Amino acid sequence: MSLEPEAARPREGRAHEIRFTLNGVQRSASVGITMSALQMLRDVIGLTGTKYGCGEGECGACTIIVDGLSVNSCLLFALDCDGRELTTIEGLAGDARAKVLSQAFVEYGAVQCGFCTPGMMVQATHLLATQPHPDAAAAKRAIEGNLCRCTGYQKIAQAIVAAGQALAAGDQP
Ligand code: FES
Ligand code: FES
Repeated sequence: MSLEPEAARPREGRAHEIRFTLNGVQRSASVGITMSALQMLRDVIGLTGTKYGCGEGECGACTIIVDGLSVNSCLLFALDCDGRELTTIEGLAGDARAKVLSQAFVEYGAVQCGFCTPGMMVQATHLLATQPHPDAAAAKRAIEGNLCRCTGYQKIAQAIVAAGQALAAGDQP
């Protein structure tokens, strides 16, 4: 039996107001109890850079950063974003690591149809923030939860390694 007061418990069919930081800005959203963070981002807030691939935690197209950890937003309840700090692909627009990475993605042919690219970029930027000079094995490990049907992964791993090297060499925008 829950000790939470009846009024405080989330209820099916009722909208719940949550507050969080999204890409550095304080936001609020009205969300349903079964809504995912991905649905909230795309359908409530209108940030469509985060992609819906499988909806089951298998493809990584929906990767975002929540309180410093990379997360499949399709598996996270929107309600659980309350009080948290979220970063999406849109939030990387001014990020120096992401800028070097995006240049490397283009240079190495790591973007083809582009569907996986936002999730890959979020994951790779997170990797470079936590491990600035990854080798190819570390780059492949970082993206093992992100599926790509086009590139064969090699080009993406090469781009991530090259971005780390460029950043280490001070080759920043
Ligand atoms: S849409 Fe979330 S992992 Fe595929
Ligand atoms: S570039 Fe097409 S799925 Fe990765």
